[in-house]
Amino acid sequence: MIFGRVKSLDAILATAEKKGLSRTLSAFQLTLLGVGAVIGTGIFVLTSEAAQKAGPGMLLSFVVAGFVCAVAALCYSELASMVPVSGSAYTYTYAVTGELLAWMVGWALILEYAVGASAVAVGWSNHLAGLLDGIGFHIPNGLRNADALMAHVQVAFGATPNADLQTAMTVGGFMNLPAVIIIGLVTWLLVVGTTESARVNAVLVLIKIAALTAFIALTIPVLKADNFHPFLPYGVGNPLSSSGVGVLGAAASIFFAYVGFDAVSTAAEETKNPQRNVPIGLIASLGICTLFYLLVASGAIGAIGANPVTTADGGVLAPGSAEMAGRCAAIVASGAMEPLVCSKEALVHVLQVINWPIMGRLVGLAAVLALPSVVLMMMFGQTRVFFTMARDGLLPARLASIHPKFRTPHVVTIVTGIAAAVAAAILPVGKLADYSNAGTLFAFMMVAISVMVLRKTDPGRKRPFRTPAVYIVAPLAIIGCIGLYLSLPLTAKLVLPGWGAIGLAIYFLYSRSRSHVGLGLDDGVAEDDRMPPASH
Ligand code: ALA
Repeated sequence: MIFGRVKSLDAILATAEKKGLSRTLSAFQLTLLGVGAVIGTGIFVLTSEAAQKAGPGMLLSFVVAGFVCAVAALCYSELASMVPVSGSAYTYTYAVTGELLAWMVGWALILEYAVGASAVAVGWSNHLAGLLDGIGFHIPNGLRNADALMAHVQVAFGATPNADLQTAMTVGGFMNLPAVIIIGLVTWLLVVGTTESARVNAVLVLIKIAALTAFIALTIPVLKADNFHPFLPYGVGNPLSSSGVGVLGAAASIFFAYVGFDAVSTAAEETKNPQRNVPIGLIASLGICTLFYLLVASGAIGAIGANPVTTADGGVLAPGSAEMAGRCAAIVASGAMEPLVCSKEALVHVLQVINWPIMGRLVGLAAVLALPSVVLMMMFGQTRVFFTMARDGLLPARLASIHPKFRTPHVVTIVTGIAAAVAAAILPVGKLADYSNAGTLFAFMMVAISVMVLRKTDPGRKRPFRTPAVYIVAPLAIIGCIGLYLSLPLTAKLVLPGWGAIGLAIYFLYSRSRSHVGLGLDDGVAEDDRMPPASH
């Protein structure tokens, strides 16, 4: 074991047995759960960010990101079928590589879930604003986004206030109020104990699939081959540069569109025959989403083109930057068609440009109806990880205290809600997604390492699902995660070590001396039965 303290797999399994959540989910329901957690802001909004980084070549980015997720999912599946308990990547690494790395994974999952929830909330806000515009109710510019705030901060830190930044300061906003409101609502729902029922999830999945299908059906027939040229305006991209553009840069961002399939593995404890059904659920949901994403992206590119916009002198503009917001505002003010890469609600915009305005609004409505459930799943995932970490003694038990009436972990839920709301209020969706991706990629990489380590250290344990060709698949997942991480923009790359350093400080100052494993309490008896059930 790499760092000494390891939670024994038998203790983890005993813990799960004791908790005894009822096993009701089938492979089909798991697949629905996966698709429900996956389709969200990524495809509805980040398609424009991906186009800004890679042009039509973003199609390849979807393939690359989907491939990395597929190999990671195969690794997840082995561990999920073997250790069908909650806590996912955190629990697996605790059993395999020890407490320190497990702590780091749990810490990174906070980035994945809490910051991810903020990103989805901002995507939701974009669609709400568009929908309300359509019925003549205009949310004031100052409260729709934080573009002006970002521009002011950049100038305060020494950026030259060029024309693009000045436009952003004039027309941009200071906070994203709708995103704060939706996070507040979801936090409240989680505090009073609302979890999503399988039936509500199924309806929302149908709404999303119907919206994407309508988009594909309306765009593919008007696809123009010319719109795919130049296919690679920024080439493949170089993971070692800090520009974050090219196919790989876009893949690193659009990776967000696939995040969430790990919700399936966290539901393993409530799954009938998890050994068979969890891997099916993981891989089927990923397969369905990849297919839809490729068709939707092809439709968007083919229908209206996907070329990046540049600075006045032809330089690269980072999506989500205040300069880009200013540049886009200037293009729209000039009377030209708003390019795909400028749109804050990519799919709605495409349908409006090709003269399907009402269908566009219906797709926007689908996003407004369905995205809150993705926020809810991510926030719920967050409370789960916190819970498991507190149960292991690594976080204060008080943080995971239970509301006397609602029987929910209200403290941790409210803390998560406040943090997610602040992030969503001031940061653009693309940046939030990139930060979330940094944490997720680290967690996925650790899962891939854990699978291989466990094959060596515990070869005799029953593996109901075995990752095929594990010594090829797991290294591919590791290389893929590192490659995508390095392809993120510089700030996103720096977020992970910065966040990790805070985590390490907390671990050594607080958690290490209180760990149940460290104190010898790791016998399954320390289990806390109060954990609320998963959200189905
Ligand atoms: N994959 C989810 C989304 O795109 C997180 O919103």
